[in-house]
Amino acid sequence: MKNALLLFSFFFCTFLNVGAQAPDANLGIIPAPESINVKTGYFLLIPDAGITIEYGNSSDRKIAQMFHDFLKQHYSLDLPVTNKAKKTDMKIIRFSSNNYNGGDKESYKLTITPSEIKVSGKDAGLLYGLQTLMQLFSFKEGPPISIPCAEIIDAPRYKYRGMMLDVCLHFYPVSFIKELLDLMAEYKLNTFHWHLTEDQGWRIEIKKYPLLTSVGGFRNGTIIGRYPGTGNDSLHYGGFYTQQQVKDIVKYAQDRYITIIPEIELPGHSSAAIAAYPQLSCFPDESTKIRSTTPWAGSPTGKQVQQTWGVFEDVYCPSDYTFKFLENVLTEVLALFPSHYIHIGGDECPKDSWKKSAFCQQLMKEKGLKNEDELQSYFIRRVEKFLNSKGREIIGWDEILEGGLAPNAVVQSWRGIKGGIETARQGHDVVMSPRESVYFDYLQGKEIQEPLGIGGFTPLKSVYDYNPTPAELTTQQQKHIIGVEACLWTEYMPTNAKVEYMFMPRMLALSEIAWSPLNRKDYVNFSSKRVPKHLAKLDSTKIIYRVPEVIGIEDTVLYGGNFSFTLIPSVSGANIFYTIDGYTPDATTYLYKPPLVIVIPKGEKRILQTVVITPSGKRSRVTRTLLDNASSPGLPR
Ligand code: ACM
Repeated sequence: MKNALLLFSFFFCTFLNVGAQAPDANLGIIPAPESINVKTGYFLLIPDAGITIEYGNSSDRKIAQMFHDFLKQHYSLDLPVTNKAKKTDMKIIRFSSNNYNGGDKESYKLTITPSEIKVSGKDAGLLYGLQTLMQLFSFKEGPPISIPCAEIIDAPRYKYRGMMLDVCLHFYPVSFIKELLDLMAEYKLNTFHWHLTEDQGWRIEIKKYPLLTSVGGFRNGTIIGRYPGTGNDSLHYGGFYTQQQVKDIVKYAQDRYITIIPEIELPGHSSAAIAAYPQLSCFPDESTKIRSTTPWAGSPTGKQVQQTWGVFEDVYCPSDYTFKFLENVLTEVLALFPSHYIHIGGDECPKDSWKKSAFCQQLMKEKGLKNEDELQSYFIRRVEKFLNSKGREIIGWDEILEGGLAPNAVVQSWRGIKGGIETARQGHDVVMSPRESVYFDYLQGKEIQEPLGIGGFTPLKSVYDYNPTPAELTTQQQKHIIGVEACLWTEYMPTNAKVEYMFMPRMLALSEIAWSPLNRKDYVNFSSKRVPKHLAKLDSTKIIYRVPEVIGIEDTVLYGGNFSFTLIPSVSGANIFYTIDGYTPDATTYLYKPPLVIVIPKGEKRILQTVVITPSGKRSRVTRTLLDNASSPGLPR
């Protein structure tokens, strides 16, 4: 019986080989692996074919079980999981850290032959090997499932592959944080930077200072619309994570080999803490300043949690009270987060209140500090010393360069790449987050077609094109670029769905620039072959994402009378609809079938408009291409 099955699977394998399209050189994998060698043939998964999942030792068992559960959930295949396959087993899928001689703990090797799939890697490496293997499955067809034979050897380009989520400007539930962590793990991102304190809300329970969350965790309203706002919604808004929830999330992330780096902002962006404990301000008796342009809800007096966005004057006073407070807060934070790095913010700290404060001016004299930038540096160094004494290191935004870098600080370069270059030249490590390339709060398309946002323009291609290692650094200095992180500031993201929309598909590009070697970079392959496949999978879930515009045409002007277009839907399985009569395309207009041939009479113009509509009904933005047979390029139209 077993032999008969073998014969059948061999026959089927050959048949598929002939019938199937030549596979994409990257086999649809995101991020593209370091090396991939596609061979002939397939490993065929069919029910009752004597296929066994084998793990090497007890620590590999979890990964083997994850694969079992994946097959069961998506394909109703219930394969046995064992640590010793029987000789009579026809085919084996092995997960093992025993026989792995690779490099670091994130690397792996995946070998697929017609009779065996072997994933070798240690710790995160084994998980990443599994993630790659799962990406080789067509997400809705099968069984039978045919996995192309290949040898994949893979390791990350950078050790720090991060995503930052700000949960202060808007707040998200634990379940949503876990959803993001799942997506990150799927795409081999390993660092979640959790921005937990801000002017608009303090989001982590600190037992010694309960007012931080009961007062600082809530605001009396939020501006409506784009800054400075057309009104105030007057809704009591906020929330925070209990220490129990934080522990749960940290463990959830650890299970996925993701490190969570908490950010406790200082000395600026501290209005919420000051609203809870006014003594943290240099001017505890002065009310929070409210800008004349800010629509405000509730009491305008006393210290208030901010209801609008931006930078605010009232910051931590560099007093003994403040340093004791911060040490107490950080002591609780350290007990919750095992991460080597602790992010201390350091960005956008106005110096107005320090300039006005007799206490600060006296302190500067005593400490021989020439200006308020040096006072900020003094502030950061003092906190760094405390954290170093506990065996941790600080990361700060690039403003911490001003006034002198703290001795062991890592810098996150966000105002372009300048700060990162300067930091690496000073011999310190850098995380690259230039806003023009990896700020995911920036818009993904033309402002008029995008939902309300902060502005900017960081489409998928800009993220993909970004190379985090600046060419102007020497080889030695380049070693200080430890990685790249995308940032999601959430002023205009009041819902989970909006965060998802801003996150996907740009996170796919982030994953590739963070993981894949430069020689694997290929935007055409990425955007037209691989992203559509991954988005089709996402489309079958509840997760929202931005549907990219149709591939093969852009908003532009084309001259002439005869046009032939070959278009590709940005999501596999989606339809493309178009019009040339000025009507906005939708499911009632023409369905694109290749090739699309359009003839424009001499002296006339038409606008070709396209839209992608996915199987779940999501739509792309509309592209508009002017087909002009009335003018010539270069002449006035
Ligand atoms: C930042 O965007 N203020 C770091």
